[in-house]
Amino acid sequence: MRTLIKNGMIVTAVDEFIGDVLIDGEKIVAVGERLDSIADHTIDAQGKYVLPGGVDQHVHYSFEFKGERVRGFETSNAAVAGGTTTVVEFVNQEQGKGMADTIFDMDKNEVARQAMADYSYHAVVCDPVDTTFEEIADLPSKGISTVKLFMAYKGMAFHSDDEALYKALRAAKEAGVTVMVHCENADVIDFLQKKLISEGKTDPYYHAESRPAMVELEATQRVINLAAMAEAPVYIVHVTAEDVMKSIRNAKNEGLPVYGETCVQYLMLDESDLSKPDFEGAKYVLSPALRTKADQNALWKAVGNGWLNAISTDHCGFDWASQKHMGVDDFTNIPNGAPGVENRLGILWTYGVNTGKISRQRFVDLFATTPAKNMGLDHCKGHIGVGMDADIVLYDPNESSIISNENSLHGVDYSTFEGYKQEGKVDKVFLRGKLMVDDEEFIGEKGDGKFIHGEPFALCFENTKEAIGLNQSRVELPG
Ligand code: URP
Ligand code: ZN
Ligand code: ZN
Ligand code: ZN
Repeated sequence: MRTLIKNGMIVTAVDEFIGDVLIDGEKIVAVGERLDSIADHTIDAQGKYVLPGGVDQHVHYSFEFKGERVRGFETSNAAVAGGTTTVVEFVNQEQGKGMADTIFDMDKNEVARQAMADYSYHAVVCDPVDTTFEEIADLPSKGISTVKLFMAYKGMAFHSDDEALYKALRAAKEAGVTVMVHCENADVIDFLQKKLISEGKTDPYYHAESRPAMVELEATQRVINLAAMAEAPVYIVHVTAEDVMKSIRNAKNEGLPVYGETCVQYLMLDESDLSKPDFEGAKYVLSPALRTKADQNALWKAVGNGWLNAISTDHCGFDWASQKHMGVDDFTNIPNGAPGVENRLGILWTYGVNTGKISRQRFVDLFATTPAKNMGLDHCKGHIGVGMDADIVLYDPNESSIISNENSLHGVDYSTFEGYKQEGKVDKVFLRGKLMVDDEEFIGEKGDGKFIHGEPFALCFENTKEAIGLNQSRVELPG
Protein backbone atom coordinates (compact mmCIF):
# COMPACT_ATOMS: atom_id res chain seq x y z
CA MET A 1 0.00 0.00 0.00
CA ARG A 2 1.45 3.30 -1.13
CA THR A 3 0.38 6.57 0.49
CA LEU A 4 1.11 9.91 -1.08
CA ILE A 5 1.30 13.07 1.02
CA LYS A 6 0.72 15.75 -1.55
CA ASN A 7 1.51 19.46 -1.92
CA GLY A 8 2.74 20.09 1.62
CA MET A 9 5.62 22.36 2.58
CA ILE A 10 8.33 19.77 3.25
CA VAL A 11 10.82 21.04 5.81
CA THR A 12 14.26 19.52 6.37
CA ALA A 13 17.23 20.74 8.40
CA VAL A 14 18.61 22.51 5.34
CA ASP A 15 15.71 23.58 3.13
CA GLU A 16 11.98 23.64 2.47
CA PHE A 17 9.93 23.18 -0.69
CA ILE A 18 6.39 22.38 -1.75
CA GLY A 19 6.26 18.76 -2.84
CA ASP A 20 5.05 15.21 -2.34
CA VAL A 21 6.24 12.38 -0.11
CA LEU A 22 5.53 8.83 -1.18
CA ILE A 23 5.35 6.16 1.53
CA ASP A 24 5.53 2.45 0.72
CA GLY A 25 5.00 0.27 3.79
CA GLU A 26 7.26 1.59 6.55
CA LYS A 27 9.58 3.66 4.38
CA ILE A 28 9.75 6.88 2.41
CA VAL A 29 10.36 5.78 -1.18
CA ALA A 30 10.16 9.07 -3.06
CA VAL A 31 10.25 12.81 -2.38
CA GLY A 32 9.48 15.10 -5.31
CA GLU A 33 6.71 16.55 -7.42
CA ARG A 34 3.70 15.07 -9.22
CA LEU A 35 4.15 11.55 -7.86
CA ASP A 36 0.34 10.89 -8.15
CA SER A 37 0.35 8.13 -10.68
CA ILE A 38 2.12 5.66 -8.43
CA ALA A 39 0.04 6.04 -5.22
CA ASP A 40 -2.92 3.98 -3.94
CA HIS A 41 -4.04 6.61 -1.50
CA THR A 42 -3.50 10.37 -1.40
CA ILE A 43 -3.53 12.85 1.49
CA ASP A 44 -3.79 16.52 0.62
CA ALA A 45 -1.27 18.47 2.69
CA GLN A 46 -1.72 21.81 1.00
CA GLY A 47 -1.18 24.65 3.48
CA LYS A 48 0.48 22.32 5.98
CA TYR A 49 4.07 21.71 6.96
CA VAL A 50 5.44 18.22 6.42
CA LEU A 51 7.99 17.63 9.17
CA PRO A 52 10.09 14.63 10.15
CA GLY A 53 8.78 12.90 13.28
CA GLY A 54 10.62 14.27 16.30
CA VAL A 55 13.43 12.46 18.12
CA ASP A 56 13.52 13.21 21.85
CA GLN A 57 16.93 11.98 22.97
CA HIS A 58 16.22 12.56 26.68
CA VAL A 59 13.12 11.03 28.29
CA HIS A 60 12.44 9.08 31.47
CA TYR A 61 9.79 6.36 31.44
CA SER A 62 11.40 4.21 34.14
CA PHE A 63 13.07 6.73 36.48
CA GLU A 64 12.68 6.37 40.24
CA PHE A 65 13.32 9.06 42.83
CA LYS A 66 13.21 8.07 46.52
CA GLY A 67 10.82 5.21 45.73
CA GLU A 68 8.51 7.18 43.41
CA ARG A 69 8.37 5.94 39.81
CA VAL A 70 7.41 7.96 36.74
CA ARG A 71 4.63 7.01 34.33
CA GLY A 72 5.95 4.49 31.84
CA PHE A 73 5.75 3.65 28.17
CA GLU A 74 1.98 3.13 28.53
CA THR A 75 1.86 6.93 28.23
CA SER A 76 4.14 7.19 25.18
CA ASN A 77 1.10 8.02 23.03
CA ALA A 78 1.62 11.55 24.42
CA ALA A 79 4.95 11.77 22.60
CA VAL A 80 3.39 10.79 19.28
CA ALA A 81 0.40 13.09 19.75
CA GLY A 82 2.94 15.88 20.14
CA GLY A 83 4.80 14.95 16.97
CA THR A 84 7.66 12.99 18.57
CA THR A 85 7.87 9.53 17.01
CA THR A 86 11.13 8.35 18.63
CA VAL A 87 12.21 8.62 22.25
CA VAL A 88 15.47 7.60 23.89
CA GLU A 89 15.05 6.25 27.40
CA PHE A 90 17.59 6.20 30.24
CA VAL A 91 17.69 2.85 32.03
CA ASN A 92 19.36 2.86 35.43
CA GLN A 93 21.51 -0.26 35.83
CA GLU A 94 20.33 -2.62 38.57
CA GLN A 95 22.92 -3.41 41.23
CA GLY A 96 24.73 -6.67 40.49
CA LYS A 97 23.35 -6.86 36.98
CA GLY A 98 24.77 -5.85 33.60
CA MET A 99 23.56 -2.67 31.92
CA ALA A 100 22.33 -4.45 28.78
CA ASP A 101 20.59 -7.15 30.83
CA THR A 102 18.82 -4.45 32.85
CA ILE A 103 17.72 -2.78 29.64
CA PHE A 104 16.56 -5.82 27.70
CA ASP A 105 14.80 -7.45 30.66
CA MET A 106 12.76 -4.27 30.94
CA ASP A 107 12.23 -4.21 27.20
CA LYS A 108 10.94 -7.78 27.15
CA ASN A 109 8.79 -7.47 30.26
CA GLU A 110 7.25 -4.12 29.62
CA VAL A 111 8.36 -1.75 26.95
CA ALA A 112 7.95 -3.85 23.80
CA ARG A 113 4.29 -4.42 24.67
CA GLN A 114 3.49 -0.86 25.65
CA ALA A 115 5.48 1.48 23.45
CA MET A 116 3.49 3.64 21.07
CA ALA A 117 6.54 5.57 19.86
CA ASP A 118 9.71 4.00 18.50
CA TYR A 119 12.44 3.94 21.11
CA SER A 120 16.09 3.41 21.83
CA TYR A 121 18.03 3.21 25.08
CA HIS A 122 20.84 4.85 27.02
CA ALA A 123 22.62 2.60 29.53
CA VAL A 124 23.11 4.31 32.90
CA VAL A 125 26.12 3.34 35.03
CA CYS A 126 24.91 2.66 38.60
CA ASP A 127 27.17 -0.20 39.72
CA PRO A 128 30.73 1.00 39.12
CA VAL A 129 32.46 -2.41 39.25
CA ASP A 130 35.05 -3.51 36.65
CA THR A 131 32.57 -5.62 34.70
CA THR A 132 30.36 -2.58 34.16
CA PHE A 133 33.15 -0.67 32.41
CA GLU A 134 34.19 -3.80 30.49
CA GLU A 135 30.62 -4.22 29.29
CA ILE A 136 30.73 -0.85 27.50
CA ALA A 137 32.71 -2.52 24.69
CA ASP A 138 29.79 -4.89 24.00
CA LEU A 139 26.98 -2.32 24.05
CA PRO A 140 27.17 -1.40 20.33
CA SER A 141 26.62 -5.02 19.31
CA LYS A 142 23.34 -4.82 21.23
CA GLY A 143 22.27 -1.58 19.61
CA ILE A 144 23.16 0.69 22.54
CA SER A 145 25.47 3.56 21.62
CA THR A 146 25.31 5.80 24.70
CA VAL A 147 26.08 5.54 28.40
CA LYS A 148 24.97 8.10 30.92
CA LEU A 149 26.44 9.04 34.27
CA PHE A 150 24.96 11.33 36.90
CA MET A 151 27.41 13.57 38.78
CA ALA A 152 24.45 14.85 40.87
CA TYR A 153 22.22 13.03 43.38
CA LYS A 154 24.66 12.17 46.19
CA GLY A 155 23.63 9.08 48.09
CA MET A 156 21.43 7.71 45.31
CA ALA A 157 22.24 4.55 43.39
CA PHE A 158 22.67 6.40 40.12
CA HIS A 159 25.24 8.93 41.40
CA SER A 160 28.75 8.54 39.95
CA ASP A 161 32.11 9.86 41.13
CA ASP A 162 35.04 11.06 39.00
CA GLU A 163 36.68 7.65 39.00
CA ALA A 164 33.59 6.11 37.41
CA LEU A 165 33.36 8.97 34.93
CA TYR A 166 36.97 8.65 33.84
CA LYS A 167 36.74 4.87 33.51
CA ALA A 168 33.53 5.15 31.48
CA LEU A 169 35.03 7.81 29.20
CA ARG A 170 38.09 5.64 28.49
CA ALA A 171 36.07 2.53 27.75
CA ALA A 172 33.45 4.40 25.73
CA LYS A 173 36.01 6.06 23.50
CA GLU A 174 37.34 2.68 22.39
CA ALA A 175 33.87 1.32 21.71
CA GLY A 176 32.47 4.36 19.91
CA VAL A 177 29.94 4.79 22.67
CA THR A 178 29.00 8.36 23.61
CA VAL A 179 29.16 9.30 27.29
CA MET A 180 26.34 11.59 28.37
CA VAL A 181 26.64 13.37 31.70
CA HIS A 182 24.28 15.11 34.11
CA CYS A 183 26.62 17.79 35.44
CA GLU A 184 26.10 19.12 38.96
CA ASN A 185 28.43 19.04 41.97
CA ALA A 186 26.67 16.56 44.25
CA ASP A 187 28.67 17.38 47.39
CA VAL A 188 27.94 21.09 47.26
CA ILE A 189 24.23 20.43 46.63
CA ASP A 190 24.14 18.01 49.57
CA PHE A 191 25.74 20.60 51.85
CA LEU A 192 23.37 23.37 50.74
CA GLN A 193 20.28 21.15 51.02
CA LYS A 194 21.14 20.20 54.59
CA LYS A 195 21.88 23.83 55.51
CA LEU A 196 18.61 25.13 54.02
CA ILE A 197 16.48 22.43 55.64
CA SER A 198 18.12 23.04 59.03
CA GLU A 199 17.19 26.72 58.68
CA GLY A 200 13.55 25.76 58.08
CA LYS A 201 13.75 26.64 54.38
CA THR A 202 11.69 23.72 53.16
CA ASP A 203 9.58 25.20 50.32
CA PRO A 204 10.04 24.20 46.66
CA TYR A 205 11.71 27.55 45.94
CA TYR A 206 14.78 26.46 47.93
CA HIS A 207 15.38 23.70 45.40
CA ALA A 208 16.88 26.42 43.19
CA GLU A 209 18.95 27.89 46.04
CA SER A 210 20.34 24.46 46.84
CA ARG A 211 21.71 23.97 43.32
CA PRO A 212 22.80 27.31 41.81
CA ALA A 213 24.24 27.55 38.30
CA MET A 214 27.79 27.44 39.73
CA VAL A 215 27.34 23.80 40.77
CA GLU A 216 26.41 22.98 37.20
CA LEU A 217 29.29 25.01 35.82
CA GLU A 218 31.87 23.40 38.09
CA ALA A 219 30.77 19.89 37.16
CA THR A 220 30.58 20.71 33.46
CA GLN A 221 34.11 22.09 33.44
CA ARG A 222 35.30 19.07 35.42
CA VAL A 223 33.81 16.57 32.99
CA ILE A 224 35.15 18.47 30.00
CA ASN A 225 38.60 18.13 31.58
CA LEU A 226 38.07 14.45 32.33
CA ALA A 227 36.97 13.86 28.74
CA ALA A 228 40.03 15.71 27.46
CA MET A 229 42.27 13.54 29.67
CA ALA A 230 40.55 10.42 28.37
CA GLU A 231 40.63 11.83 24.81
CA ALA A 232 36.96 11.00 24.50
CA PRO A 233 33.93 12.85 23.18
CA VAL A 234 31.34 13.87 25.77
CA TYR A 235 27.72 15.00 25.60
CA ILE A 236 26.41 17.32 28.33
CA VAL A 237 22.68 16.86 28.97
CA HIS A 238 20.15 19.50 29.97
CA VAL A 239 22.27 22.66 29.92
CA THR A 240 20.44 25.40 31.81
CA ALA A 241 22.71 28.42 32.20
CA GLU A 242 24.60 30.90 30.06
CA ASP A 243 27.97 30.21 31.72
CA VAL A 244 27.56 26.45 31.33
CA MET A 245 26.71 26.89 27.67
CA LYS A 246 29.79 29.09 27.29
CA SER A 247 32.10 26.48 28.78
CA ILE A 248 30.82 24.02 26.16
CA ARG A 249 31.23 26.65 23.45
CA ASN A 250 34.79 27.37 24.59
CA ALA A 251 35.69 23.67 24.56
CA LYS A 252 34.31 23.40 21.03
CA ASN A 253 36.34 26.42 20.00
CA GLU A 254 39.44 24.63 21.26
CA GLY A 255 38.53 21.72 18.97
CA LEU A 256 37.37 19.35 21.69
CA PRO A 257 34.52 16.96 20.85
CA VAL A 258 32.18 18.42 23.48
CA TYR A 259 28.46 18.64 22.74
CA GLY A 260 25.37 19.68 24.64
CA GLU A 261 21.60 19.91 24.59
CA THR A 262 19.11 22.06 26.42
CA CYS A 263 15.46 21.32 27.20
CA VAL A 264 12.22 23.13 26.46
CA GLN A 265 11.62 24.10 30.11
CA TYR A 266 14.96 25.94 30.37
CA LEU A 267 14.03 28.03 27.33
CA MET A 268 10.56 28.86 28.66
CA LEU A 269 10.42 28.83 32.47
CA ASP A 270 12.49 30.44 35.19
CA GLU A 271 13.15 30.22 38.93
CA SER A 272 10.08 32.38 39.71
CA ASP A 273 7.91 29.37 38.76
CA LEU A 274 9.29 27.62 41.85
CA SER A 275 7.73 30.28 44.11
CA LYS A 276 4.16 29.61 43.00
CA PRO A 277 1.94 29.41 46.10
CA ASP A 278 0.17 26.39 47.60
CA PHE A 279 2.98 23.99 46.75
CA GLU A 280 2.44 24.59 43.02
CA GLY A 281 6.16 25.36 42.82
CA ALA A 282 6.76 21.62 43.28
CA LYS A 283 5.60 21.09 39.70
CA TYR A 284 8.77 22.86 38.60
CA VAL A 285 11.22 21.00 40.83
CA LEU A 286 13.56 19.52 38.26
CA SER A 287 17.32 19.25 38.08
CA PRO A 288 19.35 21.21 37.24
CA ALA A 289 17.02 23.94 38.50
CA LEU A 290 15.23 26.58 36.44
CA ARG A 291 17.33 29.73 36.01
CA THR A 292 16.81 33.34 34.90
CA LYS A 293 15.40 35.19 31.89
CA ALA A 294 18.97 36.13 30.93
CA ASP A 295 19.88 32.43 30.84
CA GLN A 296 16.83 31.74 28.66
CA ASN A 297 17.94 34.37 26.16
CA ALA A 298 21.46 32.95 26.07
CA LEU A 299 20.12 29.43 25.52
CA TRP A 300 17.86 30.54 22.64
CA LYS A 301 20.91 32.11 21.05
CA ALA A 302 22.93 28.95 21.60
CA VAL A 303 20.38 26.64 19.98
CA GLY A 304 20.02 29.13 17.15
CA ASN A 305 23.67 29.05 16.22
CA GLY A 306 24.68 25.49 17.11
CA TRP A 307 26.57 25.89 20.37
CA LEU A 308 23.97 23.49 21.70
CA ASN A 309 22.80 20.98 19.12
CA ALA A 310 19.48 19.54 20.33
CA ILE A 311 16.39 20.42 22.35
CA SER A 312 14.98 17.59 24.47
CA THR A 313 12.34 17.43 27.19
CA ASP A 314 13.83 15.36 30.05
CA HIS A 315 10.22 14.16 30.29
CA CYS A 316 9.37 12.80 33.77
CA GLY A 317 5.74 11.92 34.47
CA PHE A 318 5.44 12.43 38.23
CA ASP A 319 1.99 13.22 39.60
CA TRP A 320 1.73 16.43 41.60
CA ALA A 321 -0.96 15.32 44.09
CA SER A 322 0.21 11.79 44.77
CA GLN A 323 3.97 12.05 44.19
CA LYS A 324 5.34 15.61 44.31
CA HIS A 325 3.59 15.97 47.69
CA MET A 326 6.14 13.55 49.18
CA GLY A 327 8.16 16.70 49.67
CA VAL A 328 5.51 18.94 51.14
CA ASP A 329 7.57 19.43 54.34
CA ASP A 330 11.01 19.12 52.74
CA PHE A 331 11.81 20.12 49.16
CA THR A 332 14.61 17.53 48.98
CA ASN A 333 11.95 14.80 48.97
CA ILE A 334 10.06 16.20 45.96
CA PRO A 335 10.62 13.82 43.04
CA ASN A 336 12.78 15.69 40.50
CA GLY A 337 11.47 16.08 36.97
CA ALA A 338 8.51 17.37 34.98
CA PRO A 339 6.47 16.19 31.99
CA GLY A 340 6.86 17.81 28.56
CA VAL A 341 7.27 15.25 25.79
CA GLU A 342 3.87 16.18 24.35
CA ASN A 343 4.62 19.91 24.03
CA ARG A 344 8.08 20.10 22.46
CA LEU A 345 6.92 20.75 18.90
CA GLY A 346 4.11 23.14 19.79
CA ILE A 347 6.20 25.23 22.18
CA LEU A 348 9.28 25.43 19.97
CA TRP A 349 7.15 26.31 16.95
CA THR A 350 5.23 29.02 18.79
CA TYR A 351 7.99 30.60 20.87
CA GLY A 352 10.97 29.75 18.64
CA VAL A 353 9.94 29.66 14.98
CA ASN A 354 7.06 32.12 15.10
CA THR A 355 9.03 34.69 17.10
CA GLY A 356 11.96 34.48 14.67
CA LYS A 357 14.39 33.05 17.24
CA ILE A 358 14.99 29.97 15.09
CA SER A 359 14.17 29.21 11.47
CA ARG A 360 11.96 26.28 10.48
CA GLN A 361 15.09 24.47 9.22
CA ARG A 362 16.87 25.05 12.51
CA PHE A 363 13.76 23.83 14.34
CA VAL A 364 13.76 20.56 12.36
CA ASP A 365 17.47 20.15 13.03
CA LEU A 366 17.09 20.64 16.82
CA PHE A 367 13.87 18.61 17.05
CA ALA A 368 14.68 15.61 14.88
CA THR A 369 17.72 15.58 12.60
CA THR A 370 20.60 16.21 14.98
CA PRO A 371 19.14 14.26 17.92
CA ALA A 372 18.92 11.29 15.54
CA LYS A 373 22.58 11.80 14.59
CA ASN A 374 23.68 12.23 18.21
CA MET A 375 22.10 8.89 19.07
CA GLY A 376 23.29 6.96 16.01
CA LEU A 377 19.68 6.67 14.83
CA ASP A 378 20.15 8.63 11.61
CA HIS A 379 20.28 5.39 9.62
CA CYS A 380 16.46 5.57 9.68
CA LYS A 381 15.26 8.53 11.79
CA GLY A 382 15.19 12.33 11.85
CA HIS A 383 14.90 13.30 8.18
CA ILE A 384 12.44 13.26 5.31
CA GLY A 385 14.36 11.50 2.58
CA VAL A 386 14.31 8.35 0.45
CA GLY A 387 15.05 5.22 2.47
CA MET A 388 14.20 6.78 5.83
CA ASP A 389 11.44 5.50 8.09
CA ALA A 390 8.11 7.10 7.20
CA ASP A 391 7.85 9.06 10.47
CA ILE A 392 6.03 12.17 9.36
CA VAL A 393 4.10 14.98 11.03
CA LEU A 394 1.58 17.14 9.18
CA TYR A 395 1.51 20.43 11.05
CA ASP A 396 -1.34 22.85 10.40
CA PRO A 397 -0.11 26.39 11.10
CA ASN A 398 -3.57 27.92 10.87
CA GLU A 399 -5.02 26.44 14.04
CA SER A 400 -4.08 27.39 17.57
CA SER A 401 -4.89 26.34 21.11
CA ILE A 402 -4.01 26.83 24.76
CA ILE A 403 -2.00 24.03 26.36
CA SER A 404 -3.95 22.41 29.14
CA ASN A 405 -3.58 19.24 31.16
CA GLU A 406 -7.18 18.36 30.32
CA ASN A 407 -6.18 17.74 26.72
CA SER A 408 -2.90 15.95 27.52
CA LEU A 409 -2.22 12.22 27.23
CA HIS A 410 0.86 12.00 29.48
CA GLY A 411 -1.05 10.43 32.37
CA VAL A 412 -0.18 12.89 35.14
CA ASP A 413 -2.24 15.52 36.88
CA TYR A 414 -0.55 18.66 35.63
CA SER A 415 1.02 20.20 32.56
CA THR A 416 4.35 22.01 32.89
CA PHE A 417 3.16 24.43 30.19
CA GLU A 418 -0.43 24.95 31.37
CA GLY A 419 -1.84 28.13 29.81
CA TYR A 420 0.91 28.59 27.23
CA LYS A 421 -0.35 29.03 23.70
CA GLN A 422 0.36 26.72 20.83
CA GLU A 423 0.24 28.21 17.35
CA GLY A 424 -0.43 25.42 14.89
CA LYS A 425 -1.60 21.90 15.59
CA VAL A 426 -0.40 18.38 14.96
CA ASP A 427 -2.90 17.25 12.36
CA LYS A 428 -1.55 13.82 11.38
CA VAL A 429 1.38 11.66 12.50
CA PHE A 430 2.75 8.62 10.71
CA LEU A 431 5.02 6.17 12.52
CA ARG A 432 6.86 3.95 10.01
CA GLY A 433 3.96 4.52 7.60
CA LYS A 434 1.20 3.77 10.10
CA LEU A 435 -1.23 6.62 10.74
CA MET A 436 -1.04 7.21 14.53
CA VAL A 437 -2.70 10.61 14.84
CA ASP A 438 -5.57 11.67 12.61
CA ASP A 439 -7.18 15.07 12.91
CA GLU A 440 -5.50 15.56 16.32
CA GLU A 441 -6.80 12.25 17.65
CA PHE A 442 -4.41 9.46 18.71
CA ILE A 443 -5.46 6.26 16.94
CA GLY A 444 -2.34 4.08 17.43
CA GLU A 445 -2.06 1.06 19.68
CA LYS A 446 0.20 -0.24 22.43
CA GLY A 447 3.06 -2.20 20.87
CA ASP A 448 3.16 -0.07 17.71
CA GLY A 449 6.54 1.33 18.80
CA LYS A 450 9.66 -0.75 18.21
CA PHE A 451 13.26 -0.78 19.36
CA ILE A 452 15.64 1.08 17.04
CA HIS A 453 19.35 0.29 17.38
CA GLY A 454 21.78 3.15 17.85
CA GLU A 455 24.96 2.88 15.83
CA PRO A 456 28.32 3.65 17.46
CA PHE A 457 30.76 6.50 16.77
CA ALA A 458 27.81 8.87 16.42
CA LEU A 459 29.77 11.89 17.65
CA CYS A 460 32.99 10.88 15.97
CA PHE A 461 32.87 12.59 12.64
CA GLU A 462 35.97 11.80 10.62
CA ASN A 463 38.08 14.73 11.82
CA THR A 464 37.07 14.15 15.43
CA LYS A 465 37.89 10.48 15.18
CA GLU A 466 41.33 11.33 13.97
CA ALA A 467 41.77 14.00 16.63
CA ILE A 468 41.06 11.55 19.40
CA GLY A 469 43.12 8.78 17.82
CA LEU A 470 40.33 6.46 16.71
CA ASN A 471 40.51 4.53 13.53
CA GLN A 472 37.77 1.96 13.78
CA SER A 473 35.11 1.80 11.09
CA ARG A 474 31.44 1.73 12.06
CA VAL A 475 30.32 -1.62 13.35
CA GLU A 476 27.89 -3.51 11.08
CA LEU A 477 24.71 -4.37 12.90
CA PRO A 478 21.78 -6.56 11.99
CA GLY A 479 18.47 -4.95 11.07
O1 URP B 1 14.87 16.51 37.48
C1 URP B 1 15.13 15.72 36.60
N1 URP B 1 15.72 16.15 35.51
N2 URP B 1 14.81 14.41 36.72
C2 URP B 1 15.14 13.38 35.85
C3 URP B 1 16.50 12.84 36.06
C4 URP B 1 17.56 13.72 35.50
O2 URP B 1 18.30 14.32 36.26
O3 URP B 1 17.68 13.82 34.29
ZN1 ZN C 1 19.65 14.78 34.70
ZN1 ZN D 1 16.95 13.42 32.61
ZN1 ZN E 1 21.50 -0.04 10.74
